[in-house]
Amino acid sequence: MVKRPLDLSHDFLAEVLDSSSTALDATMGNGYDTVFLARLAKQVYAFDIQEQAALQTQNRLQELGLTNVQIILDGHEHVDRYVGEIKAAVFNLGYLPKADKSVITKPETTLQALQKVLDCLLIGGRVAIMVYHGHTGGKEEKDAVLAFAENLPQTQFSVMLYQPLNQKNTPPFLIMIEKLKQDTKAV
Ligand SMILES: C[S@@+](CC[C@H](N)C(=O)[O-])C[C@H]1O[C@@H](n2cnc3c(N)ncnc32)[C@H](O)[C@@H]1O
Repeated sequence: MVKRPLDLSHDFLAEVLDSSSTALDATMGNGYDTVFLARLAKQVYAFDIQEQAALQTQNRLQELGLTNVQIILDGHEHVDRYVGEIKAAVFNLGYLPKADKSVITKPETTLQALQKVLDCLLIGGRVAIMVYHGHTGGKEEKDAVLAFAENLPQTQFSVMLYQPLNQKNTPPFLIMIEKLKQDTKAV
């Protein structure tokens, strides 16, 4: 059976993670991606602005005995205050299911976070962005993230899109980014 975008996002990141890696969950939510990363990496940083997300994730990690996650109750746009070099990162855009649907990821902060995460990414490191865009405000964020990804320099990043073409409504899709080399201006 063909892989769903969410499944491919995990496979894409798993290929570069090992027990020496540092990984980042930029949108912790209920902690499913955090757990996935924590099982593969040495250290995980997980961000969310909602206390509910931090608590849910904390409980989930405790139940599973995973102790290698630093939960950060702050916006991912401040990632550079907490994180150094990373091997992989995941963004799951939109709102937290079964919570306040007005608390959504927003274009400006998402793009700030993406740029900072790409700056922190090691060569060969990867970022998976799951774009949910059916909610109010989702289209603006989708357009902004697509424009950002399309404009990444091809000598520095490999950027791929994985998207259902014949599904009704607004199915989520996946943007995959791999860092090929450092920005020569920054070195
Ligand atoms: C689609 S949910 C994430 C689902 C999550 N990956 C999971 O496995 O359950 C999006 C999350 O992004 C969070 N969020 C919104 N703005 C944010 C920001 N500036 N920084 C970090 N998280 C943010 C929301 O609170 C919400 O929990």
